[in-house]
Amino acid sequence: MLSLEALSASELWELLERGSYFRERLDKGEKTGKELKGRTVANMFFEPSTRTRMSFELAAQYLGAHVINFAHQGSSLVKGECLLDTAWTIEAMAVDCMVIRHGTTGAAKLVANNVRAAVVNAGDGTHAHPTQGLLDILTIWRHKGRVEGLKVVIVGDVLHSRVARSNIQGLAKLGAQVVVVGPATMLPDSADWPVEVETDLDRALEGADCVNVLRIQKERQEQGLFPSQQEYFKFWGIDANRLTSDMLLLHPGPMNRGIEIEGRAADGPNSAILDQVTNGVAIRMAVLSMLLERSGH
Ligand code: CP
Repeated sequence: MLSLEALSASELWELLERGSYFRERLDKGEKTGKELKGRTVANMFFEPSTRTRMSFELAAQYLGAHVINFAHQGSSLVKGECLLDTAWTIEAMAVDCMVIRHGTTGAAKLVANNVRAAVVNAGDGTHAHPTQGLLDILTIWRHKGRVEGLKVVIVGDVLHSRVARSNIQGLAKLGAQVVVVGPATMLPDSADWPVEVETDLDRALEGADCVNVLRIQKERQEQGLFPSQQEYFKFWGIDANRLTSDMLLLHPGPMNRGIEIEGRAADGPNSAILDQVTNGVAIRMAVLSMLLERSGH
């Protein structure tokens, strides 16, 4: 599971339906599944994470797997071991699945091409974050009852966002209308991506069903991609006044309150932000169970 690009619409729906089934199980408090009994999942995070790392760990545990957690700090990487030697070492401990987050685009693919274990990309550079895309779409589907024909607005640094890429790949394949909006320096060329491109937030939000707000990475300001956080919030920040009652508000987290999103919006009635977190556990249960069922490990 390296990106959503290679998946067909029917494969996406299979994962979403399985995710919805696991979400219902979680809502009933069922955490003692046996689907991954006897399997071992290694969480390998080379970049910070709260949501993705913990939800993969819980997803594997709720399905009965053994889980080991690898963190960059405190590992032999700090002594100079390379990524593939680290992956081969972990695989040699009878690991069936590796969940990899890395700051470099292509890192999960490099490992996948060189190990027998199943590999899940938990975010690589600016490239892809497929389970985030899936959990966002699962959240939209569960709230709106459909995906096809919805207008989904993605706000912020789309060009450098693996979350945006995975959302766009999945949403476009399932027939949603995707509009991206933000400073021109942070937007792709619409000729290259299946999206409509806007720089005016109010125009983009007209008739929107869902608004997905991206985290502003502070280093982008240092690169001169936007002048100041105050100006960013004024022109592209989502405050509660900009939302109509039926707009679903999403944010992948972690949030910068007061920069890309106002606290009143994040905590208000439109917000599905914590629901996304629960759906994150469910969709990771879906991905792990499907991969390990099919990979024969
Ligand atoms: N959305 C997301 O990937 O969050 P974390 O960095 O906390 O995992």
